[in-house]
Order: sequence, then structure tokens, then C-alpha cells
Amino acid sequence: MANFKQQAGIAAANLAQNGMKIGLGTGSTVFFALERLAERQKTENLNFSGVSTSFSTTLLCRKMGIELKDCGSVSHLDLAIDGTDEIDPNLNLIKGRGAAHLLEKIVASLTDRFIIVADSTKKVKNLGEKFPIPLEILPAALGLAEAGIKNLGGILEIRMAGASKDGPAISDSGNIIADANFGLIKEPITLCKELDSIPGLVGHGLFIGLTKEAFIAGEAGVEHISL
Ligand code: A5P
Repeated sequence: MANFKQQAGIAAANLAQNGMKIGLGTGSTVFFALERLAERQKTENLNFSGVSTSFSTTLLCRKMGIELKDCGSVSHLDLAIDGTDEIDPNLNLIKGRGAAHLLEKIVASLTDRFIIVADSTKKVKNLGEKFPIPLEILPAALGLAEAGIKNLGGILEIRMAGASKDGPAISDSGNIIADANFGLIKEPITLCKELDSIPGLVGHGLFIGLTKEAFIAGEAGVEHISL
């Protein structure tokens, strides 16, 4: 079976040019973009620096020989490539299955060319069809965030780490990862603003208005969507 994630990742990595600063997202689709970027470094002498969105991506970059800049030292990126869990017709997203959504949103906000790579299973009509919204919460604000989400009509569930650790999943920045279920999200712009206004809720996986371009691969080939 064709690897659609690979096709999308390659298409985005082919946009990289010499001298660019490139934001590097997280996940199994971005993996293929990283692989292609590393290959282009070797075969075309492509020269770029990356900004990573997670320990996971940093480790892959080290292995692949991709040079990284610290995110905090950068005020603009030429390009950023990332995956998604859901994408709606306006290219609004739900991200954060891998708990990297806080840094991913910072990196997405550093560029005017934030490119999503995905297979066609990620397309939805309305956000919230398949996934709740991932949250990143300062531990001291957990109670406040729980009350805030309830007020907005959602249900907050702390994400458990699983076999690797007892208790909650902890982000790369040391915060608690949780998920907020709002069912189908009919007014994503409003909900995004409301989530933004909860103190101590340092990040959420609703990405509104940040994406202008996507490569979505499926049986019909790689679709390049540009708003
Ligand atoms: C990481 O926290 C996420 O936002 C990923 O970018 C998203 O889950 C997509 O991952 P896959 O490409 O592995 O589906």
C-alpha cells in the first residue's frame, strides 16, 4: 500500500531552499519530511537550519544530522512543516496527540508559511469529529482549567502516561497534558478565544487561522491546498 504520509512529507520537504530557517513539527508524517530534508542535505548540498517542536523531533534530527537552532533564539521562520490530527475545509486544525502542541503552536506562529502534511484520513467537516482538544496545563492551574472547561461545556480528562510512568502525561515543558471533549465544534474561532483566556492553560491544540497551505495525500495523489 502506498505510504500517503511519506508522500505528503516529501512534497513539503521539497519546498526547502538554501539558507532557510525551517520549523520542524512532530509525529509520524513529519518523520518523512525530516528524512527527505536529510536526504537533500546529502544529495543537493541543501543548507538550512531547523527549529524543533519536541524532544522527539530533536532526537530524530540528531540521528539524521539536521542542524537545529534554539526556538527561543528565533523571531521568524521561512517555513514550518507539521502534521495534524484533524483538518477542516478552512485548514483549521486539532493537534497534539503527541503532546507537542504548545511548541508546535509557537513554531507555527513564527512563520507565515505553516504547511500541514497529512494523509486524507485527517480531513473532517467539523473539528471534534474524531478527537478531543489536547491541553497543556500548568500544574498549579489544574483546578482552574477543569472549572473553565466545564463552564464552556466541555469535559476535561487528564491524559495518563501509560506504561512508561505512573500518573499523568507530562509535556516537554513539564506541564500536565489533558484532553477536553466538546463533541463537534461548531464555532472553533470562539472556542479558541475562550480557551486562550483561561489563566494557566498554557497551550491547547485548536489551531485557528494559522495554516494557509497543506499537502494531503490519498488514493488520488497528493493534493496541494492553498488558501
Ligand atoms: C504532535 O503533538 C501532534 O500535533 C502531531 O503533529 C499530530 O498528532 C500528527 O501526528 P501524525 O503525523 O503522527 O499523525
